[in-house]
Amino acid sequence: MSRKLMIAGNWKLHLTVEEAVALANAIASGLSRDDLDVLLIPGFLALEPVALSLSTSPVLVGGQNLFWEDQGAYTGEVSGPQLKAAGARYVLVGHSERRQYFGESERTCCLRLNAALKAGLRPILCVGETQAEREAGRTEGVLESQLAGGLAGLEAAQMASVTVAYEPVWAIGTGLTATEEQAAEAHAHIRAWIGSRFDKGVANSTRILYGGSVNPANAAGLLNQPEVDGALVGGASLKAESFLGIIQAA
Ligand code: G3P
Repeated sequence: MSRKLMIAGNWKLHLTVEEAVALANAIASGLSRDDLDVLLIPGFLALEPVALSLSTSPVLVGGQNLFWEDQGAYTGEVSGPQLKAAGARYVLVGHSERRQYFGESERTCCLRLNAALKAGLRPILCVGETQAEREAGRTEGVLESQLAGGLAGLEAAQMASVTVAYEPVWAIGTGLTATEEQAAEAHAHIRAWIGSRFDKGVANSTRILYGGSVNPANAAGLLNQPEVDGALVGGASLKAESFLGIIQAA
């Protein structure tokens, strides 16, 4: 089954609203392909202005995180329905920076993922091992427990709305990229796990993105791997030229 490529830019804690809108417009106007999905993931403040400025463009917008309750006395949180109303179509869940700095656990990933689905958003579940876990030979076990935790209780039909992103923690923002072989191997393992947890059809249709120091020079090699269905880009998504370069290389 063929899976549509996605190139996503996670802008993390960067850019003012004005800068984000300008970058989104530069990317949208430089885009010359419509055979893949392009997703921009700005900070919350910029999400609606970016979505509005892209309303006539095929470029999609997503959130970086969401809370699992729809509303209530939860100071400082943002809910799925709020993101949806602001123009988001996708939302990251369990990014390693959330796991590392904000106490994200398997349980809270699962709550957020379910809240996203309930709100009609497409969650992108991020998984990946640290350097120490890789060196200890624990990569596959870590991926399995993050997948099992985040997708706990999910039914096969719900997987049609779920994307997985493999982001080895040691490759994020470090300039160290997984080799094509390492990426292919991890993606194949994730797909096999999805096949045994759900079924082969679900495994074949689930989009699995690679993230970790993707740039215009290494994108083609990574994206050429049959198991790699796109890229989740951090640093290189903050300049229109490099992000468009990755899209061109895909
Ligand atoms: O979510 C994308 C990310 O964590 C990768 O960041 O800067 O290594 O491309 P970067």
